[in-house]
Amino acid sequence: MNGNRTRFLVNRPIGLIHEAWPAAFYRPRPGMLMGQARPGYGERPAFDDMEEAVFIRYLMPKSFWKLLKWLQIGEEKKLKEAWEIFDRFLYQSISAAREKLISRSKSPVEEEEEFTFLSAFLADQGGQTDYTSENSNKILRDHAFSLVAAGRDTVSACLNWFFWFVATNPSIETKILEEIKEKLQEKGKLRFFSTEELNSLVYLHATLCETLRLYPPVPNNHKTALEADVLPSGHQVPQNTWMLISFYSMGRMHEIWGQDCLEFKPERWMWITKQGGIIHVPSYKFTAFNAGPRSCVGKDMSFIQMKIIAVALISNYRLQLVEGHPVTPKNSIVLHMNYGLKVKVTKRFG
Ligand code: HEM
Repeated sequence: MNGNRTRFLVNRPIGLIHEAWPAAFYRPRPGMLMGQARPGYGERPAFDDMEEAVFIRYLMPKSFWKLLKWLQIGEEKKLKEAWEIFDRFLYQSISAAREKLISRSKSPVEEEEEFTFLSAFLADQGGQTDYTSENSNKILRDHAFSLVAAGRDTVSACLNWFFWFVATNPSIETKILEEIKEKLQEKGKLRFFSTEELNSLVYLHATLCETLRLYPPVPNNHKTALEADVLPSGHQVPQNTWMLISFYSMGRMHEIWGQDCLEFKPERWMWITKQGGIIHVPSYKFTAFNAGPRSCVGKDMSFIQMKIIAVALISNYRLQLVEGHPVTPKNSIVLHMNYGLKVKVTKRFG
């Protein structure tokens, strides 16, 4: 399974904005305008270029990337091209959703409404029915971009690392399977799950948290001091200081997680009682979803998505790592695997 395919699996159930969503982020095929294939690993999504370019901005002095931008070379050139692809797709999706709403308001039909964030945003524009207004396009495009940037690759990156841990830890896979069997499967074949049912999957939840601790999809964050300040540690922070916070490193510090911080132990998240249950860990310690006023608003939703996908895949298929496939993190603002996760997939039944 490579990273792109996991994204496909993730995006389909969510039906995020548009049916053609996953395909639309890929550059045109090689030989066309901006084709750029990596042998064996598929085409590069435009969105990957954006994430890598933003990561480079973290590393370079501002004057340097500004110069690249001005000269339109390197990562900044790729960023501009990626924006063009992205905008083209988003504006097309907005027009299509707008037309759908207009035709529906002219001749309402009794059909089951297909929910997408985009149609919900459009329908919510001040409760107005003027869907023809083009003024709101830019706002809609920015909303859609925020949702994609925040919710798409974060979930798929986390799932890749999660499936890697499951494929390399048979005892963890067995425990997840036992829990699914105990809590979900007695009612028959796999089907839609209620939130309560998904909440009852404590071991699966703990395994996802442990994955997020060691491989936080957003590995870095930064803050700038608007005014001179003093941190609780006593460190002086002059005005306009740019501080980089590594969530990745924080997840691997003994001072925070104890001597076994480098071990993958879902149990550290669970009460060791008969009932089980997830231990509350403050967000300033478990920072994968950020802490404070700008914390992730999609945290609960992402656990639901990840659990649905984990249950559907693990209960039906066995994933075995392809020998020799390199598993390394990528330099990007989202902690992807450099070459995706390559696994052999075998059906559990039949
Ligand atoms: C495993 C999955 C996810 C992780 C690890 C994650 C992590 C984060 C982090 C670290 C931030 C803070 C970013 C910053 O301030 O620089 C954030 C913000 C945000 N996330 Fe998530 N996220 C995930 C999934 C989602 C999903 C599924 C959605 C919605 C569909 C979402 C929506 C948002 C939004 C809207 C913000 C901005 C909140 C604000 O600034 O007020 N996230 N997320």
